[in-house]
Amino acid sequence: MFINVVGTSKVSLVMCKVLAKKDFSIGYVISRSRERASAFVRKIGQGNPISYDEDFLLRDIVFISVPDSVISSVYSNLKEKLSADVNIYHFSGFLSSDIFEDADERGWGRGSIHPNLSFADEKIAFKLIEKCCFGIEGNEKGLDLARKIVQQISNYWVEITPQAKVAYHLAAVLASNFNVGLAYLAKKLYDLYGINGFEKIIPSLMMSTSKNISTLGVESSLTGPVARGDWDVVENEGKLFENCFPKYKDLYMLMIEVLKEIKER
Ligand SMILES: NC(=O)c1ccc[n+]([C@@H]2O[C@H](COP(=O)([O-])OP(=O)(O)OC[C@H]3O[C@@H](n4cnc5c(N)ncnc54)[C@H](OP(=O)(O)O)[C@@H]3O)[C@@H](O)[C@H]2O)c1
Repeated sequence: MFINVVGTSKVSLVMCKVLAKKDFSIGYVISRSRERASAFVRKIGQGNPISYDEDFLLRDIVFISVPDSVISSVYSNLKEKLSADVNIYHFSGFLSSDIFEDADERGWGRGSIHPNLSFADEKIAFKLIEKCCFGIEGNEKGLDLARKIVQQISNYWVEITPQAKVAYHLAAVLASNFNVGLAYLAKKLYDLYGINGFEKIIPSLMMSTSKNISTLGVESSLTGPVARGDWDVVENEGKLFENCFPKYKDLYMLMIEVLKEIKER
């Protein structure tokens, strides 16, 4: 089957690199810039680079891989260039495939295939994607093919209802993006107090916590002053947090409340 790509994004590049080695071939790669489409095709070693204004008809599979805010308008502009047998997907964690409004009436498969992975670095994402768990959703035809697509990448996925997508994505934001925010504050403390070794110490601490969460579960992974009931430490560190980060002063006590709830459970 052919995979056509709309938008030369980081996610589509990594997904196509893997899928081009499996049962799929890369068809059209559509970009606002023909040069970017050509560069994308060179990286994969397959595909036909074009821009939106050229003549084309997309069949089999279409990945609309553009920022969430423009998926709907890109889809509207492409509709007349989709063949009757097409299956159309996006990679957003937040949006459901309901955004492909009239796909059902037209008999198209539709779905969302969300990789639970950060694509900040393409090489790292390429290494990790074969272990990635995908969140997939769609109409019957789209979901059926989405399963076959993710089977070929990692064989690891969860199926989500359209109603649960925002909660599903918020959970990813809390666990992944908020973690980056917390690491940023930790780094500021290292910088403020001239402590060396942030890059070695904090990421490996975060990895050990992740490992514990995956093997023991969240509740059994809590360590530190709250878990031990060292309330003097909690209070003293709260004062330092307020001094160092006056703008975020409520964050510390709110997080302590969350940790107390975990301890009680
Ligand atoms: N980044 C992540 O870690 C991550 C993780 C999971 C899921 N996702 C999802 O994957 C999708 C793509 O994200 P990404 O981070 O890979 O995107 P990205 O690398 O920022 O690329 C988005 C692509 O969309 C095209 N584009 C940008 N603005 C556009 C506009 N106004 N109109 C039309 N096309 C436009 C560009 O391609 P051309 O210049 O070739 O047109 C650009 O390369 C999103 O739905 C996102 O939610 C991302």
